[in-house]
Amino acid sequence: MQADLEPRVGESPAPVRHRAPVVSNRRVAADTWWLELESPEIARRVAWGQFVMIGFGLEHLAPPFLPRPFSVGWRSPDGRIGLLVRRFGAGSAALAALRPGERALLLGPLGRPFRLEAARRVVCVAGGVGLAPFLILAGEARRQGLAVELLYGELSAERVFDPVLIEQLTDAPPQIWTEDGTLGRHGRVTDGLDASGPVTVLGCGPTAMLRALAGRAAREGFELQVSVEEHMGCGVGTCQGCVVRSADGRWLKACTEGPVFDASDLSWSPG
Ligand SMILES: Cc1cc2nc3c(=O)[nH]c(=O)nc-3n(C[C@H](O)[C@H](O)[C@H](O)COP(=O)(O)OP(=O)(O)OC[C@H]3O[C@@H](n4cnc5c(N)ncnc54)[C@H](O)[C@@H]3O)c2cc1C
Ligand code: FES
Repeated sequence: MQADLEPRVGESPAPVRHRAPVVSNRRVAADTWWLELESPEIARRVAWGQFVMIGFGLEHLAPPFLPRPFSVGWRSPDGRIGLLVRRFGAGSAALAALRPGERALLLGPLGRPFRLEAARRVVCVAGGVGLAPFLILAGEARRQGLAVELLYGELSAERVFDPVLIEQLTDAPPQIWTEDGTLGRHGRVTDGLDASGPVTVLGCGPTAMLRALAGRAAREGFELQVSVEEHMGCGVGTCQGCVVRSADGRWLKACTEGPVFDASDLSWSPG
C-alpha cells in the first residue's frame, strides 16, 4: 500500500479540453442520470474529488451557454468516465438529454482532490449527488487496501442511485439513509456518522449538511474535508463566480483552491 494516497496530482497541471463522445446515458433514479463519456486523457489523470466543466461550446445556440461543473464519479481502464447528473435547470437538463454518439465539450480534470492518509479510517458522508466523488474514491481506495465507509443520504427512495451499481463501483454496499424512511435507515445521513478514533471524514452534499458536519468536527475534534458545490462560470480561476468565505474572512475560489477544503479553513456562518 502506498503511504500517500493522493493519486497522480501534479503529474500534468494543464487541463484537457476536448469534445467527448457519449458512450451511454441512462436514468438511474428520479431526475438523475448516469452519463458515460469517452475521455481517455481525463480518465487517466483524474484524482478523487476532481471535477470537469461540461458544456457544448460557443457555437451551441441554446442554453446552457456556460459549462457546468460535475465531479468525476468513475473511470475505466479503457478511457471512459462516469458522471452522476441530477436535473435542476437548463445545464443539467441538456446533459440528461444527451444520446450515445453525441458529443459534449469537456475541460478537466480540475480542482484540488481529497487527501488521504493510509493509516486512517476514512468515512465518506454523501448527501444526494454529493455521492459522485465518493464512487471513484471508495472503489479505488478500497482496492488499495484502505478502510473506507460510505454513508449516503437522500430525501426518499425514488432519488437513491441504484445500490447494486454503487456496490459494483465501490466494492462494498453503502449505508443508505432516507429522510422519509422509504429506503435504508430513517433519518439524516449525518446521524450515521461515528467519528471516534483516528478518522478522516469526507463530506460532499448540500451546504446545510456540510455545515452540520463542520459543527460536529469542531465539537468532536475530528479531521473533516468537504467538497463544496458552488455555481461556477469558468472552472479555472478567472470569473470569480465560485468564491467561498474563509474562516479568516478572505474569499477563496472553489474551482482552483477547492472544491475540496479543510472544513476548519472555511466560514460556516449562514448567509
Ligand atoms: C465541484 C462541483 C461538482 C459537482 N458535481 C456534481 C455531480 O456530480 N452531480 C450533480 O448532479 N451536480 C453536481 N454539481 C452541481 C452542478 O454543477 C449543478 O447542479 C449544475 O451546475 C446546475 O446547473 P443547471 O443549469 O442544471 O441549473 P441552474 O440553472 O444553474 O439552476 C437551476 C436551479 O436549481 C438550483 N440548483 C442548481 N444546482 C443545484 C444543486 N446542486 N442543489 C440544489 N439546487 C441546485 C439553482 O439554485 C436554481 O434555482 C457539482 C458542482 C460543483 C461545484
Ligand atoms: S468558476 Fe470562475 S473563478 Fe471559479
